[in-house]
Amino acid sequence: MIENRTIPERSIDDNVTDLLMANRDASRSDNKTILLTGGAGFIGSHTAVVLLDRGYDVVLLDNFSNSKRDVPARIEKITDRSCICEEVDLTDEAAVATVFNKYDFDAVIHFAGIKSVGESVEKPLEYYDNNLTGTINLLKAMNASDVKNLIFSSSATVYRQDNPVPYYENYPLGATNPYGWTKVIIERILTDMGAVDHAWRVIMLRYFNPIGAHESGLIGEEPQGIPNNLLPYVAKVAAGDLPEIRIFGDDYDTPDGSGVRDYIHVMDLAEGHLVAMEYLRRMIDRDNKKEITEKDACSVASLTENSSATDEKERRLKDLNVRAFNIGTGKGTSVKEIIAAFERACGKELSKAAYPRRPGDLATVYADTSLAEKELGFKARRGIDEMCIDSWRWQQTAR
Ligand code: UFG
Repeated sequence: MIENRTIPERSIDDNVTDLLMANRDASRSDNKTILLTGGAGFIGSHTAVVLLDRGYDVVLLDNFSNSKRDVPARIEKITDRSCICEEVDLTDEAAVATVFNKYDFDAVIHFAGIKSVGESVEKPLEYYDNNLTGTINLLKAMNASDVKNLIFSSSATVYRQDNPVPYYENYPLGATNPYGWTKVIIERILTDMGAVDHAWRVIMLRYFNPIGAHESGLIGEEPQGIPNNLLPYVAKVAAGDLPEIRIFGDDYDTPDGSGVRDYIHVMDLAEGHLVAMEYLRRMIDRDNKKEITEKDACSVASLTENSSATDEKERRLKDLNVRAFNIGTGKGTSVKEIIAAFERACGKELSKAAYPRRPGDLATVYADTSLAEKELGFKARRGIDEMCIDSWRWQQTAR
């Protein structure tokens, strides 16, 4: 039997229990050092907390273009662990190489990138230059240092708009704006690199709509200027910084007419990176037993005698060294439901009004999460109320 030898099956409960029990258990990570590009940003900082709590060492790399310089100190305060930070812009190839010469990384999580859909339409060259040049410089440095284990921050935006919901990982990809295309193109680059060099192990996590904040109120999302995204906007209305919530479209074909999205608590998303990191490590263990894998691969045809076609497909999938997973909750929540949850969280009614639909928006977007559940053992645990309570706490403490 070879089916599950290379990547042992784990139940969702196994992983959730591990996450709950292993906080601050340094022994589990064997002192692995992970580089987090964009590590001071919204998702990067929460992931740093989860990795440090799990016993990993982390080095943040950030140019602080969209994050604050005191974030590493705040991460240290939450975790009571040291959080090294290098102020580097990924578009500076020499500086990136210097960081790789200074540390011995086991893996990289690549969050860094600019991410405003509207701005990307206005400034396409800036988006392609920053996100693609930065990624290519990172990949060159990884190649040169023989660090070929990568988790990439992808997005639900890579799914072509004509796909029906829920979105499955094998749907056709495409984008409607330069920001989205940078994600599609980077996924393509990683897939091509993995195809030619099997030493690369890449997990691409396609995030849906991350909201919420760490329960300490010490870290959270800090958009510059007037927020584009729903949650930070609602939070600012609740804080009295903006006059009213604009509901972009209340005539969609959805239960209450407003747009439906798959909102995920940023701490669940951060824990998704932890389980992806552990999956990556199982991929590495599998590749270390390469001779067995290759022998098995050769015998796939004969092996199917006693196994169904589905078994074989799943086994082959698990052998791939570049994988994509949706990270969402699998549940849709409407704009109006989010506003109601935020009103419960802040204890007051918020001023709101219906506005025309926002160009380019879809009625309903949510993930199929079964692949991440089955293979990563990942399942989001926190609900909409917790997301809004944590967002509101952060809004009240944010600078
Ligand atoms: N919305 C409002 N009012 C606002 C802002 C948003 O009604 O002030 C509505 C939108 O119309 C949509 C929902 O709230 O129905 C969510 O909008 P967001 O701007 O918060 O998020 P999007 O789903 O549009 O986009 C997010 C990220 C993108 C990413 C995409 C992936 O911002 O970067 O999810 O699906 F590509």
